[in-house]
Amino acid sequence: MCGIMGYAGNRSVPRVLLSGLKRLEYRGYDSAGVAYFVDGRLEIQKAEGKLCNVEKLLHDKGFDHVQNENGGIGHTRWATHGRPTTQNAHPHKTGPIALVHNGIIENYQDIKCELLEKGHRPLSETDSELFGYLVLEEQKKGHSFVEAVRQSFLKVEGSCSVVLISEEEPGMIVGIRNGSPLVVALDPQGGVFFASDAQAIIEYTNEVAFVEMGDLVVGHQVDGRYQLDFYDSLTGTKLDRTTTKLNWSVESLDKQGYPHYMLKEIFEQPQSWIDTLNLLLDRAKQDPFPLAAQPSVELLRRAKQLQIIACGTSWHAALLGKYWIERWAKITVQVELASEFRYRDPVLSPDTLVIGISQSGETADTLGAIREMRSRGIPTLGICNVRGSSMAREADAALFTAAGPEVGVAATKTFTSQLLSLLVLAGALGCERKTLSLESGRELFDEVLRLPHFMDGYLHRSSQWLAQIDHVSKQVYRRKGFFFMGRGYSFPIALEGALKLKEIAYINAEGYAAGELKHGPIAMIDDEMVVVVLAPRDRWREKTISNLQEVKSRGACIIGIGNSDDQAFEEMSDFWIPLNVPKQIRPELFEALYPFLLVPAVQLLSYQVAVLRGTDVDQPRNLAKSVTVE
Ligand code: AGP
Ligand code: GLU
Repeated sequence: MCGIMGYAGNRSVPRVLLSGLKRLEYRGYDSAGVAYFVDGRLEIQKAEGKLCNVEKLLHDKGFDHVQNENGGIGHTRWATHGRPTTQNAHPHKTGPIALVHNGIIENYQDIKCELLEKGHRPLSETDSELFGYLVLEEQKKGHSFVEAVRQSFLKVEGSCSVVLISEEEPGMIVGIRNGSPLVVALDPQGGVFFASDAQAIIEYTNEVAFVEMGDLVVGHQVDGRYQLDFYDSLTGTKLDRTTTKLNWSVESLDKQGYPHYMLKEIFEQPQSWIDTLNLLLDRAKQDPFPLAAQPSVELLRRAKQLQIIACGTSWHAALLGKYWIERWAKITVQVELASEFRYRDPVLSPDTLVIGISQSGETADTLGAIREMRSRGIPTLGICNVRGSSMAREADAALFTAAGPEVGVAATKTFTSQLLSLLVLAGALGCERKTLSLESGRELFDEVLRLPHFMDGYLHRSSQWLAQIDHVSKQVYRRKGFFFMGRGYSFPIALEGALKLKEIAYINAEGYAAGELKHGPIAMIDDEMVVVVLAPRDRWREKTISNLQEVKSRGACIIGIGNSDDQAFEEMSDFWIPLNVPKQIRPELFEALYPFLLVPAVQLLSYQVAVLRGTDVDQPRNLAKSVTVE
């Protein structure tokens, strides 16, 4: 949720902290701060709002001149306990200790009472600050700084990570994890990095260690060389941990000329589909859907039923996955929001495979559900975009999408990469189980392989299409509300279109199965409402068009998204976004691929509307990229 950055080493500490925090800005936050050594003392600069406010404070202090190896820590906060004020911003300083914290200390009330009784007076309203007092108390008992951190951590409940430094241990950074993600790395130029996301340190090194749950890490110098030592936080025993080499490049994290990351990421979709297909398939083989051999595929092959759990956009991907898997592979698929699934008493047959879909692999509810299922002995599979993420490591097997790092808070390329993986799995399982004929499988597979190139042409060469979406956006961006409606494969895309518009343009928008509108929401239709009708030429088109008539006759402004040759639909629409579909393809086959054309249309529509309304597209208010609280 929040962003953590820590560094000790040969580079300018405040500079490294700022550059790392900037890379974490996308996660969404409300205040930020850094702590670093000046003349042996820890100096803290923090501010409400954006990171540039902290940058300004540092600039005024002449931070460029700060050059020492003593280290520092930084934080971007997404408040859970106490308002987003400067006082509540991290780092929190307690005696000689400064700390940053990601997550929630669930028993903070009890801890606070104890600390107040002992005479401590925390300065902030946060749960986080209390941890510093716990460490002080442990140090009073004679424990070293590191041991005091470990002992304190045993007292806190909940899912979190804490990173600390102390004036008494210059050059040392201590991190401890029991939930929220943490990565560490050695600086090739001499030093240690701590961060809540590998993106923060990728410009310095791509060799990182993902801190395991329950690990304590100490970054420090021993005999003039920096090293990272790992310990079991329960027992204090030393551990051996390995590093992972990431293949993300720094260039892939920058905007590359696009005004927003979100737009860049929408345009990167064809490439992310190619990368995802390369990862999923064994391209040396000719059969339709030649899945590369990996444990996740074996788990899928054995399953008799699938239970998919996810949140937000990933849940929309799951909903569509159900349609494809049940159609071709004839396997029963249940889809549920992770936050609901986790806290009820689901009845699962023993041959069920539970699949968590999460681009970040860190979403608390999805991760919690996976953990719960594992503890019940039910096989679990994580579909994630981030290697080394908690879900990828904790599920029995992981299957990766290869969308690359996604910086915009609104999921775009990770969503369609999830969709593509699910479609490929559905086709593959269908072919293997012979529920999809070899001929149809082959035809579908050929189209799947062509899809990225087709979409690439659409996005990069079709300026007319983009201009059309731009024109439509200009006509509607002041309207009071939107409905997105579709049937069949277009229904989850309607949900996704509405979510995109809500999250980046802050407009009231709802996604509906087109048949449902008349069961209540139609009462809201008037000439201030826009209805985006997703009706490509699939088996549901006629029914959706009837539903269009129902809302049109009540005054709604219609944006039609359909096949470019669907003149009748175009004429019924006030505004028209055409989908150019390759001509030679059998419609009953191509209908499964329409979502891949519809999604960029609704993404771009939301994007343009948001830009026209002047919102912060990449970092929309109140949101966070990776939601590590329940
Ligand atoms: C997507 O645009 C949203 N920001 C959000 O709904 C997101 O999809 C959800 O929080 C799940 O995230 P995950 O895929 O990382 O688990
Ligand atoms: N619970 C802490 C706070 O409210 C940390 C929140 C975060 O993860 O940013 O300050």
